[in-house]
Amino acid sequence: MGLAPSGKRRQVAANPEETDTAAMTDEKTIRRVAINTGGGDAPGLNAVIRAIVLASIHRGWEVFGIENGYGGLLSDEPGGLIRLDREDVRGITHRGGTILGTTNRGNPFEWPVEGPDAAPRARDRADEVVAAFHEHDLDALIAIGGDGSLHIANELHQEGLPVVGVPKTIDNDLSATSLTFGFLTAVETATDAIGKLHSTAESHQRVMVVEVMGRNAGWIALFSGLAGTADVILIPEIPYDIDKVCAKIREREARGRHFSIVCVAEGATQIDGEVVMKTVPHGTGEQTRIGGIGEVVAREIADRTGKETRSLTLGHLQRGGTPVSYDRVISLRFGTAAVRCVERRDFGKMVALDPPDIRPVPLSQSLENIKTVPVDGDAVLTARALGVSFGD
Ligand code: F6P
Repeated sequence: MGLAPSGKRRQVAANPEETDTAAMTDEKTIRRVAINTGGGDAPGLNAVIRAIVLASIHRGWEVFGIENGYGGLLSDEPGGLIRLDREDVRGITHRGGTILGTTNRGNPFEWPVEGPDAAPRARDRADEVVAAFHEHDLDALIAIGGDGSLHIANELHQEGLPVVGVPKTIDNDLSATSLTFGFLTAVETATDAIGKLHSTAESHQRVMVVEVMGRNAGWIALFSGLAGTADVILIPEIPYDIDKVCAKIREREARGRHFSIVCVAEGATQIDGEVVMKTVPHGTGEQTRIGGIGEVVAREIADRTGKETRSLTLGHLQRGGTPVSYDRVISLRFGTAAVRCVERRDFGKMVALDPPDIRPVPLSQSLENIKTVPVDGDAVLTARALGVSFGD
């Protein structure tokens, strides 16, 4: 510890990134780093890529982007491994999507192949991905992903790849990080939509039901519902009773408020009910996908209250567009923190926001549970204090 000019012992803050060095892989010098952006996209991905590229070049490393998830490492799939230089990441901090392309059908452990009867099947191609990684003489993989992609990254780490994860998802449902990048932009988009629905709902004296994303977590619904002043917020963590939802709408009517806004998370369920799923077109490898609750809630409200009710599903609008400034900043911070992990050979970790710091946490730990909204947490209590109904 150094001495400050006053002669006093200077306080040196503990490095939040310091971890057990014995646990770190001590192998060859880092020279070539690969980036993967598999899974659903989220605003801020390009900012993470830019941060990784610039921080790596600064260290004299080369950086490569794997195109289209892990497909870029498989010779018979479209895309490849592309070198990313300073010029390739110029002006992309504010751009939505990923310059590398992505797919959420790119799990190398269950690679989709068409069976003889054109039915979708899966083949384990992880060995090919691992072999390609070594053939390309790569020293580290930075996997930017949500729950699914980080599970894959963790499995690849168990197969021996030196992996660092970066938490990406608009759902904000990864435990071990207080925030995932993309979430705040999705909230901004949903809040804007709820704001716009107010004027048309009020003019027509209607109930507007807006369905937002989030899978089995209610973060987007809660935050956008609060910010956009929805009257009812339905989240997976608090199963709802439709009669209570209607009671709230009637209570507003009685007060002369002839319109209401209901913000419902796609994963919300009625008490003792199930998540509403919709069928998806053939060829996607899935039969059903979460979604459709907005229409269900709207129909039930119209039937019970007799009020004209419309529903709107925001869908992928929430995943697109330019990241809000905080998502850009957190993405840049995550990207550079991941590079510092690589430099220390601190693999098998995910960089996590633990305000005010970014810390590496074991990848496996970050995947143990999904992070759901605490039902007695401050945000829910705030909404309740403001008169918001959760339908319970
Ligand atoms: O996990 C992010 C997310 O946007 C969820 O909120 C949503 O349910 C899902 O992905 C949609 O994924 P896709 O339509 O890309 O399969």
